[in-house]
Amino acid sequence: MRHERGRAAVRDTGGDTSGEGGDAPAVLLRGVGKTYGKGVAEVHALRGVDLEIRRGEFVVLLGPSGSGKTTLLNVIGGIEPASFGDVTAGGRDISALGEDARTAYRRDVVGFVFQFFNLVPSLTALENVRLVAELTGRGDRERSAAALESVGLAERGAHFPAQLSGGEQQRVAIARAIAKEPELLLCDEPTGALDLETGRGVLRVLQDLNRQGRTILAVTHNEAIAAVAHRVVRMRSGRVTEVTTTAEPATADEVTW
Ligand SMILES: Nc1ncnc2c1ncn2[C@@H]1O[C@H](COP(=O)(O)OP(=O)(O)OP(=O)(O)O)[C@@H](O)[C@H]1O
Ligand SMILES: [Mg+2]
Repeated sequence: MRHERGRAAVRDTGGDTSGEGGDAPAVLLRGVGKTYGKGVAEVHALRGVDLEIRRGEFVVLLGPSGSGKTTLLNVIGGIEPASFGDVTAGGRDISALGEDARTAYRRDVVGFVFQFFNLVPSLTALENVRLVAELTGRGDRERSAAALESVGLAERGAHFPAQLSGGEQQRVAIARAIAKEPELLLCDEPTGALDLETGRGVLRVLQDLNRQGRTILAVTHNEAIAAVAHRVVRMRSGRVTEVTTTAEPATADEVTW
């Protein structure tokens, strides 16, 4: 059952006709570094990261605070450029893209779920979802409503963020990221602010999306969440220190913390 999930994932992704096998990885990093600041203020956030994520994989990225997890997500997502190394994602050489092409990549290929939701308080849940999807030309009402439904919030479209719980807001943020149907979903601490039951609900949504073929890279501090991943990547001081494969990933309902 688990491996069938993987195969279905490959078939669904990207809408190409290549079917299974032999396709390019969703993400490929070679010797990626990121340095912030200059001189005494220099911070080496990434120090030569090699990483490959296959299409349809659910990868969890674990590591202590300051180890470079968000930086890695930002580099993969085209939010900021790497200082050195090669970044390939969504079939593009991200390191070589100009500003416009990088914007298009960010808009069309990547879905971002930030830790602090970033919902617009004066827009309803449905309007928040449509806002981002519209930038891609895929912002029709039906698609946005379907995205809200897929995170279990079909009835809450007309509510404002302040009228939703933390977990519900996080699910709106996920709906917003998936309404444009990105190939790659990057999530920074998607369950960070949530209690167990609510966190499980968010994990369930992510796992369902992954079964439908989305490639997911989720950052967390929470070791327990690693159980649902196909692979777990551990970082420390800007480097990948360990990559482990989970033979039999758990379901969201089996996870506890
Ligand atoms: N814009 C920036 N300017 C300067 N330094 C930065 C910047 N962004 C991140 N850093 C530094 O880079 C290092 C890695 O930061 P990053 O945010 O990637 O860590 P993280 O693993 O996501 O940590 P956390 O778990 O606390 O979110 C840290 O030392 C941080 O202070
Ligand atoms: Mg972070």
